Amino acid sequence: VRDRHSVRAEPRRRQDRLTELVSFDAEAPFTNEPDTDFSLARNRSWVEQSLRDHASAGAADEPAVSVSVSVTVTDVDLAVARARAALLEWSQTTTEHRRRVLTSVAEVMARRRGRSIAVMAAEGGKTVGESDPEVSEGIDFARYYAASTRELDRMASAGTRFVPLGVVVVASPWNFPYAIPAGGVLAALAAGNTVVLKPAPETVRTARVLVEQCWAGGVPPEVLQLVPCGDDDAGRRLVTSPDVAAVVLTGSWDTAQLFLGWKPQLRLHAETSGKNAMVITETADLDGAIKDLVRSAFGHAGQKCSAASLAIVEAAVYDDPAFHERLRDAVTTLRVGPASDPATVVGPLVAPPRGPLADALRTLQPGERWLVEPRELGPTTWTPGVKTGVAPGSSFHLTECFGPVLGVMRATDLAHAVELQNAPAYGLTGGIWSLDDSEVDYWLEHVEVGNAYVNRHTTGAVVQRQPFGGWKRSSVGRGVKAGGPGYVLSLGRCLDGPDVA
Ligand code: SER
Repeated sequence: VRDRHSVRAEPRRRQDRLTELVSFDAEAPFTNEPDTDFSLARNRSWVEQSLRDHASAGAADEPAVSVSVSVTVTDVDLAVARARAALLEWSQTTTEHRRRVLTSVAEVMARRRGRSIAVMAAEGGKTVGESDPEVSEGIDFARYYAASTRELDRMASAGTRFVPLGVVVVASPWNFPYAIPAGGVLAALAAGNTVVLKPAPETVRTARVLVEQCWAGGVPPEVLQLVPCGDDDAGRRLVTSPDVAAVVLTGSWDTAQLFLGWKPQLRLHAETSGKNAMVITETADLDGAIKDLVRSAFGHAGQKCSAASLAIVEAAVYDDPAFHERLRDAVTTLRVGPASDPATVVGPLVAPPRGPLADALRTLQPGERWLVEPRELGPTTWTPGVKTGVAPGSSFHLTECFGPVLGVMRATDLAHAVELQNAPAYGLTGGIWSLDDSEVDYWLEHVEVGNAYVNRHTTGAVVQRQPFGGWKRSSVGRGVKAGGPGYVLSLGRCLDGPDVA
């Protein structure tokens, strides 16, 4: 019998320099995993080879999974029963054991980085430049939540008995198809729960790759199961099963409401939707501001929940034609193309635009003007667009669009800018560019977001340094931030003391 908690031997791949270097110490303090340095030619060759390997292996390697996969209600019942049966043994493993397993998972993730990137690019249209940091974030989650089990040790030594919630469903999105499910799954496992992963139907293959990596790292298969289903009968059965203790959802506000409609007493931890803005004041360093604005608006073609969809610009800057010229130049020089080309900055959309995104890409509302008009190069390939003159209270101001279009608004002063920034019902991320500390202080005191960024892009929260979570309609449930203190504790409860998280 193979020791299920050891790391399976990995075939060595000549091109994969990372494979040979990675080894983590389960007891060492947490540090963030660096992204791949693609300025080095050998790393570019490595990723190109990974993309080619995946393209040629694809058909033979993974014939069974496609976006149309969905399980039946009976499959759901079986999976939940299996997870329930596995709960006692997993929940009674020591924290030291779970640290070792999660650390082994991190090593497998690092060794299979190239494959994960290739699958994310092929399936979800996520560019190499965006997929690579997702793997780093997944590794960070594994190691951070491994280290977080120390919080459980501290409680135990204080005489408090902590127990996991039970069977936890992790419902994950397509826009971060690897890091977000990794975070939910590994935190729940660290707390001693067993997990059923319900990935977005668009990115089931990536979820499978992740789950296989967790198994290879020593997570028993009954402790983590992959149950691909939509928000259909099977999905409803999963979310409403009496044997499911909690659902960790990252998705839209509407999906959270759907789940709560199915089961009003559902224990739901959800990070939901956003309409995020970056404020640029008169004192901003415009070189930095424009660079980070463009990155925040158009990374992953604007399909991040954390993306900056609005720039709210103080009048002195907004009224200066040079600002518009610089923004236009920055946007029109972004390289648009397929995710399989490592040079692509703006890749394809996950699906042809519809709803508010289709409206935003195709139409202008009163007062709006194209600074950069988006062009449709194919059903899912659009060049980025920028519209100025977005009016307060307009649908673009208030509605989440999730795509490569940025709206620019004029604010008379900082107080007005913050008012415009806070107007949407959501409050996920927000940014300010300003070199004036008193402006920054004012902004931090008034902005209504979960993650507030100063002189930095609004996407790509870094585990431990920037725990991630929303405010207002960007969060449902206890609102403990992912990748931060207390998150593992929030996936369990204390029997004889106060909950810490
Ligand atoms: N954590 C991601 C980001 O910060 C969003 O989920 O961009």
